[in-house]
Amino acid sequence: MEIGCGNGELSVWLAKNGAEVYGLDISDESIKIAEARSRTNNTTAQTHFYACPAEHTPFEDNFFDIVFINVSLHHLEVDLALNEFKRVLKPGGKLIAIEPLAFSKTIQNIRVSKLFTKLYPIRQETPTERILLIDDLRLIATIFTHTIFIPYRIFSPFIYKIKPLFLFLTKIFFKREPDLETGKQKMNRALQRGDEKLLKIFPFLKFLSRYAVIYAEKE
Ligand SMILES: C[S@@+](CC[C@H](N)C(=O)[O-])C[C@H]1O[C@@H](n2cnc3c(N)ncnc32)[C@H](O)[C@@H]1O
Repeated sequence: MEIGCGNGELSVWLAKNGAEVYGLDISDESIKIAEARSRTNNTTAQTHFYACPAEHTPFEDNFFDIVFINVSLHHLEVDLALNEFKRVLKPGGKLIAIEPLAFSKTIQNIRVSKLFTKLYPIRQETPTERILLIDDLRLIATIFTHTIFIPYRIFSPFIYKIKPLFLFLTKIFFKREPDLETGKQKMNRALQRGDEKLLKIFPFLKFLSRYAVIYAEKE
């Protein structure tokens, strides 16, 4: 199951690669787009889309092998949602998420400070949206077993947000790409790879990282 599947890009990609996917999102509009995307890609036999809140799903207990979440857990009522995921996962089922997360409360306090938010305004799409904190990881570890948290991305989100600098770098390093969009995607990926290398060489820099890959299992 993909939680917060939005327009269904990932769900349909997973279906095209052989998975049977249940995509769930609170937005009716997004679910309609996801269904249309699935029709266009001939994956309707492998996809099932539901417009409903992730905290209260219509599925029976022990139903799914995997609950996958891409940047949506931080929109949810985390405690309720995690217990719901545990309920619908089979024993041994896996929770996999990629989420914005602050490993350091001090760094997070700086990010939400007045001065910093003037430079980098914080987007808030839903009332419950917030950056996850170490306490949320602790909560995951109390509800699930075999938890692994991998820090991910340090400077790349900031450079991406400084549009003129990002464009300048794209034009210098990816000037041979057929179009600007491809160049921007490659630049973004190159910056992320830079962060990955940095974290590998200097693991202590994880306190600066902006995202985490989260892996957990149901007992
Ligand atoms: C940042 S978007 C991510 C969308 C998609 N996963 C992607 O990677 O493009 C967050 C998604 O979570 C959905 N969402 C927010 N609150 C939700 C809730 N309580 N239950 C289910 N989905 C929710 C939003 O409608 C939105 O599609």
